Amino acid sequence: MKKKVMIITGSSKGIGKSLAEHYLKKEWIVAGCSRGEGSINHDDYEHFNVDVSDEQSVVEMVRRVYEKFNKIDVLLNNAGIATMNAVLLSSLSKAESIMRTNFLGAFLFCREVGKAMIRKKTGSIVNFTSVASPLNLEGEALYASSKASVERLTKILAYELGSSGVTVNAIGPTPIDTDLIGSVPEDKIHAVIQRQAVKRKGSFDDIAHVCDFLIDEKSSFVTGQVIYLGGVCD
Ligand SMILES: NC(=O)c1ccc[n+]([C@@H]2O[C@H](COP(=O)([O-])OP(=O)(O)OC[C@H]3O[C@@H](n4cnc5c(N)ncnc54)[C@H](OP(=O)(O)O)[C@@H]3O)[C@@H](O)[C@H]2O)c1
Repeated sequence: MKKKVMIITGSSKGIGKSLAEHYLKKEWIVAGCSRGEGSINHDDYEHFNVDVSDEQSVVEMVRRVYEKFNKIDVLLNNAGIATMNAVLLSSLSKAESIMRTNFLGAFLFCREVGKAMIRKKTGSIVNFTSVASPLNLEGEALYASSKASVERLTKILAYELGSSGVTVNAIGPTPIDTDLIGSVPEDKIHAVIQRQAVKRKGSFDDIAHVCDFLIDEKSSFVTGQVIYLGGVCD
């Protein structure tokens, strides 16, 4: 199998869809997922109706991809949801749903794909965090906490898989125009951008460029890193 094989979670729209299209253009085989229908038609793309927080569905999707191609080169753990509310006004069910998708979903895919990668002694995992974590954005405690958990998972898993030839890193985007931030008031977005070193919204190309770097075979010495965009620092 000459072509490289990638799993991208949350590939029906937004950043995940743009990354799927980016790598299909580069002749990768892409397996994507979302709770709803897929939106990509391509011979080398397969869509799975999978909720990333559903353990059995995740195990089954990873098993099917691995059995079909006998490898998984890259995992882009992109699926995510957001919420905005003050901590004192946040319900337990909202907190649970954010943690289930953003943290437990990333954990389940890391665990299952990680098992496949260590068999081959190679692979790259890229998790998705957000500048909401280092910037401690008011009103985003649940979202930022779920992403802080993803960051810790990334760093510890990098140590656990380091001797197996598998890298684990994370990307932390700044605001990018997708449905995820569609309901966030413009003044809040403007305030985040003002805290960046480079004061503009992010683009899909900004993300693809960092992914290209992190999954490049020449980046085998780069692991356990969280790369925030826009010049935001922890
Ligand atoms: N856009 C930004 O400004 C921004 C900034 C910082 C970080 N990020 C991060 O970047 C990632 C992508 O965000 P985006 O802006 O592209 O969001 P988006 O446009 O809302 O797309 C999210 C994707 O994830 C899928 N998804 C959500 N929950 C899921 C679940 N439980 N199981 C499976 N799939 C699920 C959605 O499909 P279904 O709803 O059909 O499941 C969709 O395909 C997220 O991790 C987000 O936190 C985004």
